[in-house]
Amino acid sequence: MLVLGLQGSPRKNGNTHFLLSSFMNEAEKLGARTIIVEVDKKNIIPCKEYYICEKDGFCPIDDDMNKEIYSLLRQADLIVAATPIFFYGTTAQLKALIDRGQALWARRYKLKLNDPGRKWRRGFLLALGATKGQNLFQGVSLTAKYFFDAVGAGYEGSLTYRQIENPGDMEKHPTVHEDVEKTVKDLLEPFINRKKILFACRENACRSQMAAAFVQYVAGDKVETLSGGSSPANRINPLMVEVMQEKGMDMAFRKPKSIAEVMETDRPDMMITMGCEEQCAFIPDIKRQNWNLPDPAGKSIDFMRNVRDEIEKRVLNLIKEV
Ligand SMILES: Cc1cc2nc3c(=O)[nH]c(=O)nc-3n(C[C@H](O)[C@H](O)[C@H](O)COP(=O)(O)O)c2cc1C
Repeated sequence: MLVLGLQGSPRKNGNTHFLLSSFMNEAEKLGARTIIVEVDKKNIIPCKEYYICEKDGFCPIDDDMNKEIYSLLRQADLIVAATPIFFYGTTAQLKALIDRGQALWARRYKLKLNDPGRKWRRGFLLALGATKGQNLFQGVSLTAKYFFDAVGAGYEGSLTYRQIENPGDMEKHPTVHEDVEKTVKDLLEPFINRKKILFACRENACRSQMAAAFVQYVAGDKVETLSGGSSPANRINPLMVEVMQEKGMDMAFRKPKSIAEVMETDRPDMMITMGCEEQCAFIPDIKRQNWNLPDPAGKSIDFMRNVRDEIEKRVLNLIKEV
């Protein structure tokens, strides 16, 4: 279970930093893996309206969005956007990231592709400002709602605080600790007892990626999917991406990982090997199945389609069993 925090304040150790860190600490207590993106420290160029994303689903700007942030947004189970109020809106740094979410919006609404995680992913807003203004959070709430929809997360609401101005004000707030504890518990509750299944193949570029995506799409509320390879490729296989798109399934921004890398942060309940057999790490005390599927790398598109269909069939049976 990955909780991704987008820390939108440029102030070092400021109020937003405190609020998001408290949120992430609670999430870790409940077993989540957490990543905080310090947005101000990233190279994120504001949207230039090239409109290329609306045609091919990718933004051509070469910066940290393409290097890491699109991929993190796709991996997260919960995305938390945290911002101080700047002129009734988010900080410019966070807004630049939000606007670049347009590429994911285009994949969904223009290209009609389904991100396998979008049905279950959740989005939450943390915001604070100096004044008592009645409408202080109206702007950021609307922005958050549409941002989360664009990047494939259901908007679950917000924790907002007025009269927070100087560093330390947030920490001194009388209810912040219990607010955060309760909110995190409620938000993570659906993710906590999911079974973890690790799909493993040689390169983590085709078979295990497809299996993980199908399971995530059909049963992401019951199963947490992990995937890895015994010798991971540099990138996922473009032919695999194409045949998954034929099923409406969006595989963009996925990256191959080694089994060892997956095991650094997660311990699966079950492992399904798909052709890496003895090279796939032995993990004691977990269920293991071998699907023994042929490696489609370097083969024709029809070969890839057959492997995809076989995986889909097996995944549906597996979910009934689990
Ligand atoms: C450029 C700028 C604009 C701001 N605009 C507002 C505002 O419109 N309303 C408000 O209540 N506070 C406003 N503030 C105050 C901050 O929201 C407040 O100091 C907050 O605690 C800063 O959080 P941080 O420590 O996480 O950066 C503004 C501050 C700055 C620097």
